[in-house]
Amino acid sequence: MVILYRSIGNRDRLILGGNRVKLIVKKDYESMSQEVANMVKNEIKKNPNLVLGLATGSTPKGLYKELVRMHREEGLDFSNIISFNLDEYIGIKEKDPSSYNYYMREYLFDHINIKDENAFIPPAKPTDLDRACEEYDDLIKGKGGIDLQILGVGENGHIAFNEPDKSLNLGTSIIELTEDTIEVNSRFFESIDEVPRSAISMGIGNIMSAKKIVMLVSGGNKAPIMKKILSEKKVSTEIPASILLLHQDVTFIITEDVLN
Ligand code: F6R
Repeated sequence: MVILYRSIGNRDRLILGGNRVKLIVKKDYESMSQEVANMVKNEIKKNPNLVLGLATGSTPKGLYKELVRMHREEGLDFSNIISFNLDEYIGIKEKDPSSYNYYMREYLFDHINIKDENAFIPPAKPTDLDRACEEYDDLIKGKGGIDLQILGVGENGHIAFNEPDKSLNLGTSIIELTEDTIEVNSRFFESIDEVPRSAISMGIGNIMSAKKIVMLVSGGNKAPIMKKILSEKKVSTEIPASILLLHQDVTFIITEDVLN
């Protein structure tokens, strides 16, 4: 299995269970970010009303930096773009620097011309949790669904906050974070005690309904999980990202160190 995984570095398409999964291996983080920014730019050029699904975390920061550069230097226009973020911590203040709301403004929204009313993030403090989840699903549907979904992956295989489990939610849901995720994400907080214990997150159904999916993976810490996903040829709710292998238009853009 590992042999198959190692050999794919030279190819850009991997046939898994009859499905064609596109794999692009880039030398480093900068070239990975550049590659995906070009993909986003091309999609925006084809469709100025694109509905983008956006992720937070360390991995997409380079992508957002490059999109900001493209906006400033090349006039890449976000004025008709609609975006939906994957997730947000429950209970966190919007202005808290660890909130995903703050992150998106800091790294992207404040530096491009996307309209405030077109940039959606799940609410951190809804009065009715179930209703907030339904409303987010309805909003996505109301905008015609996601055209291009950007994803990162957790070391445990989570996508958005869909944690490994016996079953996974289809729609937007409230998720109890696993101890692993709380620990990994504590780097964004002053102490582990400050990490919220739950989040509101798009479900697997929302993600799989996107017309096109691009997952960015960088860093040796993601090597074990990517090895499992790409070489075991299995789909399991215990590795939520493995479900992406069933999608008809998914591209994994990874850096070389993920192959080590
Ligand atoms: C963030 C998200 C998460 C991250 C994942 C990887 O919106 O949905 O699933 O993509 O935890 O995070 P990083 O990029 O920090 O390794």
